[in-house]
Amino acid sequence: MKILITGAAGFIGSHLTDRFIADGHSVVAVDNLSMGKYENISQHEDNERFEFHKLDILEYGEFRKVSDNCEIIVHLAAFKIPRYGNAIDTLVINNQGTVNVLKLARELNAKTLVASTSDVYGKNPALPFSEESDLVIGPSSRPRWSYAVSKMYDEHICLASMEAYGFPVVLLRFFGSYGPRHHLSWWGGPQSVFIDKILEREEIPIHGDGKQTRSFTYISDTIEGLAQATYSDKANGEILNIGATREITIVDLAKLIHSLMPDAPELKLKFIPYEDISKGYEDVMRRIPDDSKIKRLLGVSANIPLEEGLKKTIEWQISVRKNMT
Ligand SMILES: NC(=O)c1ccc[n+]([C@@H]2O[C@H](COP(=O)([O-])OP(=O)(O)OC[C@H]3O[C@@H](n4cnc5c(N)ncnc54)[C@H](O)[C@@H]3O)[C@@H](O)[C@H]2O)c1
Repeated sequence: MKILITGAAGFIGSHLTDRFIADGHSVVAVDNLSMGKYENISQHEDNERFEFHKLDILEYGEFRKVSDNCEIIVHLAAFKIPRYGNAIDTLVINNQGTVNVLKLARELNAKTLVASTSDVYGKNPALPFSEESDLVIGPSSRPRWSYAVSKMYDEHICLASMEAYGFPVVLLRFFGSYGPRHHLSWWGGPQSVFIDKILEREEIPIHGDGKQTRSFTYISDTIEGLAQATYSDKANGEILNIGATREITIVDLAKLIHSLMPDAPELKLKFIPYEDISKGYEDVMRRIPDDSKIKRLLGVSANIPLEEGLKKTIEWQISVRKNMT
């Protein structure tokens, strides 16, 4: 198949490119390199089944030109939680970008998979989150919710487009994917920052009291879910959680990472009040997926133990730092 991936030079997109190329498909990789890196996918540049186009998906004309004959679109390009401002980028890119992707999907009559997020479940206290759970977010005066709102809009416009125009869509709610090539900042998730701070022999910054929980999904498990959702018609028209079900507090994550790192200095945690992150910042206190739907439909579950995934990630992050010096 000829598969178009938006956000292909990012964390998830680059691993998905590797997977589709390994499975024998052709990949049209699109990214404006605002957050991703060409070196995440440059290993394929001599492969005749791979092409890369540096372009902004908000520019429909350019985007349309490179997409001829694509049978599948996987839409990953997006901006994430605006912790430090720039909610405008999150709202505009995530909405107009998805509208452009759907316009293209309609022209190509292509099956389209769109990245959503566990953040849409927001503050719902009923755990674990199943795809039919209520989406409970905070007030519009708190910019951090603009990410969840943008993805909720994406979900609705995707399902409405499928109903109106007939091409299949699949919505994927990712839960904390991590691993090699994740961004080396909060953009990549807390595990990325914690590993870096330990390597720097600095204090580990913990937002709030650190008792908030998350689940962390090793990238190969995320990719397996995405690949099976691409290949199977059973996913068409569905919303699917993709995530590991082990719940861990952020403080325990910091301690676990510290215990797995060679030559780590004494553990030092620095607690940062939410108000210091941004005015009125609200966190999600617990987050765990119900993974029964993706298991039932596609036979997929996240199996890589957290310790194993973190060890591989730590090794990769150490090697990146060595190459930087
Ligand atoms: N990583 C996770 O744990 C996670 C969790 C929930 C949801 N998601 C969603 O999955 C998707 C991929 O996430 P990721 O972690 O790989 O993020 P990422 O930032 O590494 O990748 C996104 C890519 O999109 C590109 N991009 C952004 N705006 C663009 C534009 N206008 N035109 C073209 N390219 C553009 C960026 O340069 C980047 O390479 C996103 O939609 C994200 O919201 C990820």
